[in-house]
Amino acid sequence: METKKISDKFNELFGEGGVLYTSPGRINLIGEHTDYNGGFVLPGAIDKAMYAEIKPNGTDKVRAYALDLNESSEFGLREEDKPQEGWAKYLFGVAREMIKKGKTIPGFDIVISGDVPLGAGMSSSAALESAVGFALNDQYNLGFSRKELALIGQATEHNYVGVKCGIMDQYASCLGKEGSLIRLDCRSLESEYVPFDPKGYQLVLLNTCVPHNLAVGGEYNKRRESCERVVAAIANNHPEVKLLRDTNLDQLKEVKAKVSEEDYIRAEFVIEEIQRLLDTCEALKKDDYETVGKKMYETHEGLSKKYTVSCPELDFLNDQAKKYGVTGSRVMGGGFGGCTINLVKDDKIDEFVKKATEAYEKEFNIKPKVYDVVIKNGARKL
Ligand code: GLA
Repeated sequence: METKKISDKFNELFGEGGVLYTSPGRINLIGEHTDYNGGFVLPGAIDKAMYAEIKPNGTDKVRAYALDLNESSEFGLREEDKPQEGWAKYLFGVAREMIKKGKTIPGFDIVISGDVPLGAGMSSSAALESAVGFALNDQYNLGFSRKELALIGQATEHNYVGVKCGIMDQYASCLGKEGSLIRLDCRSLESEYVPFDPKGYQLVLLNTCVPHNLAVGGEYNKRRESCERVVAAIANNHPEVKLLRDTNLDQLKEVKAKVSEEDYIRAEFVIEEIQRLLDTCEALKKDDYETVGKKMYETHEGLSKKYTVSCPELDFLNDQAKKYGVTGSRVMGGGFGGCTINLVKDDKIDEFVKKATEAYEKEFNIKPKVYDVVIKNGARKL
């Protein structure tokens, strides 16, 4: 992204001397709604990112400016100082979480901007939290590791935004590595980099342009609560089960009469999805992209029919993918809108993108956006 306009604005508002930091959005190949269940995910940081230029200002206040919205906000850093502006809550939350860990955060000036599409399932909010966290950590020598910064971003979502998200997005944003996906065990937070270079294939995202906001309506949190209720039911007989990751379909069947049908089917999806990710990793080791693609379609089916986090627009794009011979396709991220992620053979890309976007526009009167996926590094100083 052209970062000069960020620095120009910073200089205009706050004078020279700001330092620029960035942290990216993410894709996720497979493993959806598994993170808060202690399962696995397979994300990678991308070439679209949020940026924060920052400088301590010698006061106890934060003076913040969101360049893309042309909005400013000024706030203190005590719990009762929470700003009104939605975007400023992320900045406030990150600083507050650091303060709660015993750190001192003096006031600072900050300009934020970015090119992660908002509400597209590419984790613009995690990118913002991670950019701000990384910036404060560096500016004030706080000594947090990247993993700790990811956890601070997640806590910001829980405590200041109201989304009880898992750790995937912030982890990918803070720890992403160029050319690799991250196979993250969300129970132990151990991860390994999986080089990802599918010869003969490309990943492409199609954005329905139906924006999703996981905080609105609480649908995301309701999914999490369903999972927790099922875990509680299973734990009655199997106290070692703390998360859906710890259980299996047989134990789930034992509680069928004790949980609602809706909770049951959601838990079934999660248990299956955790296994699907493991199967996908095996297929990746063998460069078996046909199996990877098949698993992606299965995930879509599960997210749409069992976990019910799809929408007609996403299902339509998934059907288009099937129609034009795309190897794998599914809704990506939290759902309820945003993008499909598509694994497409090189020689099918042009036709698929052209035909699917035309058909989508005809059906919904919205032009979908198309993004090629490029896997990049995580949070850094520029
Ligand atoms: C959102 C959340 C993540 C994860 C995904 C679904 O992106 O922030 O923690 O739960 O949804 O996989």
